[in-house]
Amino acid sequence: MTKLIEVDEQQQIFHLHNEQISYLLTVEAGQTLSHLYFGKRVRGYHGQLTYPRVDRGFSGNLPGSDDRTFSKDTLPREYSSAGEMDYHLPATVVRQADGANALNLQYVGYTVLEGKPKLAGLPAAYVEDDSEAETLVITLRDEVTGLDYQLSYTIYRALPVITRSVKVVNNGTQAVQLEKVASMQLDFVDRDFEVISLPGAHVNERHPERRPVSFGVQSFESRRGTSSHQMSPFIALVDKQTDEFSGDAYGFNFVYSGNHKFSLEKDQLAQLRLLVGINDYNFTWKLEPAQSFQTPEVLMAYSDQGLNKMSQTFHQLIGKRVVRSKYRDLKRPIVVNNWEATYFDFDEEKLKPIVAEAKQLGIEMFVLDDGWFGHRDDDYSSLGDWQVFAKKFPQGLGHFADYVHNQGLKFGLWFEPEMISYDSDLYRQHPEYLMQVPNRAPSPSRSQYILDLCQAEVRDNVVEQVATILSQGQVDYVKWDMNRHLSDIYSLSLPADRQGEVYHRYVLGYYDLMERLTAKFPDVLFEGCSGGGGRFDAGVAYYMPQIWTSDNTDALARLTIQMGTSLAFPPSMMTAHVSAVPNHQTGRVTPFETRGAAAMSAVFGYELDLTKLTSAEKAAVKEQIAAYNQMRALVLEGKFYRLKSPLDSNQAAWNFVSADKKQVFVAVFNVLAQAQPYLTKTKLAGLDKDKCYRNLATGQVYGGDELMNLGFYDPVVRYDFASQTYLFEAVTEE
Ligand code: DGJ
Repeated sequence: MTKLIEVDEQQQIFHLHNEQISYLLTVEAGQTLSHLYFGKRVRGYHGQLTYPRVDRGFSGNLPGSDDRTFSKDTLPREYSSAGEMDYHLPATVVRQADGANALNLQYVGYTVLEGKPKLAGLPAAYVEDDSEAETLVITLRDEVTGLDYQLSYTIYRALPVITRSVKVVNNGTQAVQLEKVASMQLDFVDRDFEVISLPGAHVNERHPERRPVSFGVQSFESRRGTSSHQMSPFIALVDKQTDEFSGDAYGFNFVYSGNHKFSLEKDQLAQLRLLVGINDYNFTWKLEPAQSFQTPEVLMAYSDQGLNKMSQTFHQLIGKRVVRSKYRDLKRPIVVNNWEATYFDFDEEKLKPIVAEAKQLGIEMFVLDDGWFGHRDDDYSSLGDWQVFAKKFPQGLGHFADYVHNQGLKFGLWFEPEMISYDSDLYRQHPEYLMQVPNRAPSPSRSQYILDLCQAEVRDNVVEQVATILSQGQVDYVKWDMNRHLSDIYSLSLPADRQGEVYHRYVLGYYDLMERLTAKFPDVLFEGCSGGGGRFDAGVAYYMPQIWTSDNTDALARLTIQMGTSLAFPPSMMTAHVSAVPNHQTGRVTPFETRGAAAMSAVFGYELDLTKLTSAEKAAVKEQIAAYNQMRALVLEGKFYRLKSPLDSNQAAWNFVSADKKQVFVAVFNVLAQAQPYLTKTKLAGLDKDKCYRNLATGQVYGGDELMNLGFYDPVVRYDFASQTYLFEAVTEE
């Protein structure tokens, strides 16, 4: 089998490559690890990128050297630190016992490993077989402190992907405070990039923004304790001419569910530094001698064929090598969720007709959302008390679960385990479980507070309460929600000099909960949620294969949200539901088929009172379910192509193509009707140009080349928010 990592010991050149990409690094003067190249595959390297020696004023030189032509301030580096002659933002800052923060990280050696080691306590991409990847670990050492930085680079054989992370080991004799430890640094020379990020808000997540990379520092970050609705832990760097189908695109996807920071610095020479890691805002980590600190991982994808290919790479990697659940490869059930149908106003008798109707319509799972526990009739109480609310379920939760199962449906249950209400038995018994700053009143948000997951006892309590319910064997699915961001950053369990660890320890605590519960209940399908997409990241995907994409269920709003999300994450990770109109978030009235088309382009379900549907709508539900059944594997496993963006035009369009290119699902959305509309065409992507495809609705057969190059006219419609869907299948003759 071809080696993926070649090391030229003499020249000290490291070449990571597969059939699609190359990544090159070397050791420069002063034992400085230097970056050479990341991009399209090259067969070899012959030294032409040795950084030119130029005397740059005000960029100083190596300690003890009079060579004015070499400076760490200009050299493209793999990892930088504070206190060097490098005026960029550093990758790491370490405060030492004497107050200094200078390090001099010098190359001391490397190892190459088959496969990809796990990251202790953290989610990360994995391999199923060691032949799938190779890992280069380079050690940089600071002699004075005895700190080692182990930089890990894993290259996958079959994907244009390199993953990066860093482990800091204190081999010194004194404790240090880590003030910043980026997971990766990447320096570019002579690239005039634009940057795409995914800003948003609650009910308005992940709206792509593209802008030039300008001189100075730009950053994309979360300081909310989670990966956040407000800024997704992802950016892409693209050339100006890059579009969905052509041009270079570099994607960076951070496998982390807490505070993140992507910093871009374009310097005096128009060189660019990218740093990705845990946000250094209110971050410190005390590292005692013989201890180590592992950073989370960054997934880097390179595409020479535009953004669609970059996204498809992430879809494949996250969908198949980050998601671990057994549902990774299984069809996900079509759900009906009672949240928008009833909110808190329900009991067993009110829910039963919805369940019965769901069965009639072919829905596969009923999800009981918020309000089934404690004495929760609104969002002011009971978080932390995960026992059934007897008023709503007088014969117990098991009785209702049995009813659901007897109808032939699976049973799903909502939890928000990281939270505590003041009005809860848990708070009355354990006020010390609350995250709170001494002598200060904690801030409520949605009238709830955060459990201090830094405390092992708190985590044990959560695991025990959730496990008690799941152990009864009646819950097939868990929706794990989180409806506020962190505040009152302090843990009563930590000493003063470790309070800077709280944000990260919270995330590690959350991962610990997920690890324990998903390991104990491997047959339960877990769905992530945080007021919709407030914690939608690859870290969550490691434990939960799907996430509620947004609390905004409006079909039109979902077009941008789902398209934006698809830049970094697979459709198999996004859940999407048909809801009632006027839509509860926007007040908009969209056609039933458009709500279906948007939701069927992801993990499909319903979120409305099925008993209130008209008979025509019920017929439409049956048709949607039949259609989804035909293409469920295609949507979950196929390649997804964005064709038209609603941010650029009056339309959105996409298509899915199966791996064997025999099945194609197309959805085209028209935003507003026009009195005198311009004609538009939809051209498909990713088909086999030599195959013929039958439109299953009309029977008409077209060449793959026709569908991709000629396309077809979109119908002229006289109503807003119209949509068309098409299912094509390859035919053997014609
Ligand atoms: C926010 C979620 O995103 C909703 O779907 C619903 O579960 C509510 N929380 C319940 O409080």
